[in-house]
Order: sequence, then C-alpha cells, then structure tokens
Amino acid sequence: MPEKAMEKARVAVLISGRGSNMAALLYAAKAESCPYEIVLVAANDPDAPGLSLARAEGIATFGLSHKGMKRAEFDAIIDTEVRKAGADYIALAGYMRLLSPEFVAKWEGRMLNIHPSLLPKYKGLHTHERAIEAGDSHGGCSVHIVTAELDDGPVLGQTKVAILPDDTADALAARVLIAEHQLYSRVLADYVRHGISHLQS
Ligand code: GRF
Repeated sequence: MPEKAMEKARVAVLISGRGSNMAALLYAAKAESCPYEIVLVAANDPDAPGLSLARAEGIATFGLSHKGMKRAEFDAIIDTEVRKAGADYIALAGYMRLLSPEFVAKWEGRMLNIHPSLLPKYKGLHTHERAIEAGDSHGGCSVHIVTAELDDGPVLGQTKVAILPDDTADALAARVLIAEHQLYSRVLADYVRHGISHLQS
C-alpha cells in the first residue's frame, strides 16, 4: 500500500528585510521529511528583499507598510492574512516590529522568534556588540516562544558561538547567522512535532 503523505504543519513567516532566516526555514521545508511547510511570507515593508525571494520560490507573500497605522490595526491585518493562508504557526524571522498584546495573545504558544543572543542575555538590539564589550567567551542565538515581553518567552533551543580575540560585531554576527539558519529550522521542526515538551532545561 502507498504510504500516506505526512500532514504538515502550516507556518507563516513574518520578516522585515533580508529574510535569510526565512530562506533557511523555506529550504529546510523542501525536504520530504520536514514536518512543516511555509504557506505565507509577510512583511511590514512591501520592498523587503525576502519577499522577492519567497515569491520566486512560489510562496504566497503579503507586504504592507505599517507606517501611519496604529499597532493593533496593522497587526489585525497581518492576523487576517495569516489566517487566510491557513497557518497553524507563526515564525518571526527578523521581524522588527513590536507586536500588540492582542496579536500575541491570539497566537500564544504557536509563535516562535529567533534572537541573536544567548537569552536571557542581551534582549533587544546590538546583541553582538554587547557580548564582545562584556568580554563574553561566547555569543550565539536562541529560538523562543513569543510572549508579551520583548525577547522574553521560554527558550526552545540555543547555539553557542565562540567569540574570537579580535572579533568585531559584524564578524561575530556573520558567524552567528550561520548558526541561526541551522537552529531555527531544527527547533521549529521539533516544536511542530512535539510541542513544548521539548523545552531545553
Ligand atoms: C537575524 O540576526 C535575527 O536573529 C534578528 O534579525 C536578523 C534578521 O536577519 N532578529 P534575516 O532577515 O533573517 O536575514
């Protein structure tokens, strides 16, 4: 008997610019064994380079500038688009917008983010500069569940990246990005398979 095709989790990815993490999620999803598929890539900038990349891959996209709109009003539009696409999960990937509490509440437990630091260290911006300035031995990246507080939800997975003696923030960021691309698809795949039971301790 032919094997029944695996039912894949449907993921919408929100980006603001380059979209390299989105691309990593998308390329990983091409494997037959990947338990998720990307059903929408949305951006708060219609010119985000990541949107053209997704379009070229045949993925539905949505781009709208948030400028001049109230946060909750903009988020409601994104929510409608994500639901229209039939997404079960949202992956934030370089989405540079704070989310309204209403939006976060609607997607509680079904929205992940990638952050370029070893959380709980260095929430917010300039994470690599801060890690180097502090004399840390390692930088890195974390995938976490999105909660109402910025970069604060339960951490699902992390990759440590050694800081070199002469590292600059840019050089470290480039190496951490390689780690991000691997970590995000692995953690997202685990999460849609097993949920929160796979939280790291
Ligand atoms: C990544 O470093 C991500 O961790 C951070 O913003 C950057 C986005 O890069 N939140 P890209 O758009 O995924 O290439």
